[in-house]
Amino acid sequence: MPANKPHGLRVAVVGATGMVGRELLQILEKRRFPVRELLAFSSGKSQKTVRFRGKTLHAPAINEKLLASCALVFFVSSDEISQRLAPRLAKRGVWVIDDSAAFRLKPQVPLVIPEINAEALRPSRKLIAGPNCTMTAIAVAGFRLHASVGVISARIASYQSVSGAGSAALQELLSQARAMLGGGRPKASALPGPIAFNVLPQVGRFDRFGRSSEENKVAAELRKIWSAPKLRVSMTAVRVPVIRGHSLAAWLNLAKPVSPAKARSILEKTPGLKFARKQYPTPLSCSGRDPVYAGRVRQGVDSKEIALWIVSDNLLKGAALNSVQIAEELLRRRWLA
Ligand SMILES: NC(=O)c1ccc[n+]([C@@H]2O[C@H](COP(=O)([O-])OP(=O)(O)OC[C@H]3O[C@@H](n4cnc5c(N)ncnc54)[C@H](OP(=O)(O)O)[C@@H]3O)[C@@H](O)[C@H]2O)c1
Repeated sequence: MPANKPHGLRVAVVGATGMVGRELLQILEKRRFPVRELLAFSSGKSQKTVRFRGKTLHAPAINEKLLASCALVFFVSSDEISQRLAPRLAKRGVWVIDDSAAFRLKPQVPLVIPEINAEALRPSRKLIAGPNCTMTAIAVAGFRLHASVGVISARIASYQSVSGAGSAALQELLSQARAMLGGGRPKASALPGPIAFNVLPQVGRFDRFGRSSEENKVAAELRKIWSAPKLRVSMTAVRVPVIRGHSLAAWLNLAKPVSPAKARSILEKTPGLKFARKQYPTPLSCSGRDPVYAGRVRQGVDSKEIALWIVSDNLLKGAALNSVQIAEELLRRRWLA
């Protein structure tokens, strides 16, 4: 190799100006991911910039030719953009890590949380999906319990922050709060109703059975990532006026009786999870932190049911951090060169 060959990879982030995209850039920088050149893309509807390693970069509209010249592309924009471009790039040999919901349930696409199922990665499967942010919290928190005892069914109530619905939803919460504190009326467009000083038991669209798309995603993705096709999941997903951090109340029905003490000791050894014995986690206490947090472990309706409380930063482990961890796994295996 010539001595002056530049070190690192050409990496692109599609959706770099969004909630997840901006976090992703910070994580790449913080974890010293070997980026030689970073290309940032946005909708291009207005002139936008991002910061990376102390420099200001322009984030223009997508340029497919430039994307195809990269070793790795992160998609953090929308299902439609990923659907259109991700498979084409993967076919051309570019590693693609996609945070949208477009490919998560496709059998040939690995849906990966490295702590749980890094073995699903294959050198020939260049398109990799990162999971739903709410699903990631329960998947990480419960996977050791599932592996050691077996989870038969999960009942979940989620309390999901507005940043989970993107920057437009976050702006909506802030402007509604200001309007209401000033005696005005809230206006809703990004979310299905007013969110300031309110909660909405709707995350996504309802299907003909009355289940929301978020509830369906969590159930289907949890079955895939835990390799548990028979797992039964019953959930109510709720949007709450929290800026960042998804919380879940979960009741796990197990294959055999497990004491809360035993469940706690399994949770303490679960990779990617921080178990809080004394103080329960909250969105504020977990915001900006990498691990998934759990607390309030107790017996449910009988000795086979464990109840717990889980909190995770939806923008970090729920999205950007998990994607970078997948890329790090590809580096470790020397597949991404
Ligand atoms: N937010 C979360 O907690 C979370 C968690 C897991 C997965 N995800 C997924 O991550 C993705 C991004 O979510 P987000 O919350 O970051 O959304 P967001 O804040 O709304 O950001 C969307 C990003 O996509 C860009 N974009 C929109 N239309 C585009 C187009 N036609 N061409 C290129 N770029 C375009 C936007 O650019 P402009 O700035 O120019 O509009 C922006 O950079 C989504 O697929 C979402 O499902 C989000």
